[in-house]
Amino acid sequence: MASATFTVQEDTALTNSHITLNVAQTASLRSQLKSQRGILNTNNIEQLCKEFNVSVDSLLQGLVPLASEFSVAPVSHFHVGAIVKAIDEQQQVNFYFGANVEFDHQALSLVVHAEQSAINNAWLNGAKKILKIAISDAPCGYCRQFMNELADAKEFDILLPSQHFKLAELLPHSFGPTDLGNEFSLFNPKPQFAVFDDEQIEETFAGFALNAYVPYSQNFSAVKVSTFDNGDFYGSYAENAAYSPSLSPLQSALSQFFLAGLSFDKETVKGITLLETKGHENQAGVSKAVLSGFTDLPELKVISAALK
Ligand code: THU
Ligand code: ZN
Repeated sequence: MASATFTVQEDTALTNSHITLNVAQTASLRSQLKSQRGILNTNNIEQLCKEFNVSVDSLLQGLVPLASEFSVAPVSHFHVGAIVKAIDEQQQVNFYFGANVEFDHQALSLVVHAEQSAINNAWLNGAKKILKIAISDAPCGYCRQFMNELADAKEFDILLPSQHFKLAELLPHSFGPTDLGNEFSLFNPKPQFAVFDDEQIEETFAGFALNAYVPYSQNFSAVKVSTFDNGDFYGSYAENAAYSPSLSPLQSALSQFFLAGLSFDKETVKGITLLETKGHENQAGVSKAVLSGFTDLPELKVISAALK
């Protein structure tokens, strides 16, 4: 079975109603995005706005086709891109890219949608408040529900190529966390004071698991994908009140991995580890199922640790 490769093209220009980049400018931005793992920071954004003579929001919408290039879609060949504009703890504006990820010969429900990918990228990398999300296509019902788990779901703007919406317009009479008595949300989680009762677990990895948003299963969990030459990629479990649009820690980590433009194969991947909370484990089965679609990868290592 073929390993998943993404679709970044190397020699095309990016021209649309928002921005015009020549081939060299587009190529340079592609490699910047890969090396910065799908994030543009405030300085990058200011510099690009100056260079291309566009506003921040034109840049945001203009770069969406570039986000789509990071899609891995061996089933549909339908490449969806999304970019979240959010502020971090220092009140700095950053762009967080996202693209859909499909798994060949797996249940279609295991797909990561572009909107989930961009929101996950923002969430894992310290964004505190989403201002806008620009998307290449209308968000499906599943993504509308995924967005409904966000603290600022009511405020942020959803930018489609030629129309803008608020989530309440796209998802009226919605079902959300408060219907289950959960007053917390994806960017406003319950304060977490517990730690894993296992000193062998590397601190960064434990941090990603403890920062998981798991109000419904309590399985604080994360996945680490380590590579030979490109560092480590982490993903955290992000649950949803409607359960199905939850993003598993493996999906979360793989989405981050593909935003770096890497190929998910044995030449690149050194190890894959799942860390779960003892007594609440629920991720090993689905993680193994997703990974079974790839050949010759290192076997999933599963750690189950108690919280104290
Ligand atoms: N897709 C998204 O990424 N976002 C949406 O909201 C619409 C659908 C992806 C999922 C799948 O990879 C492909 O598009 C076909 O549905
Ligand atoms: Zn969707």
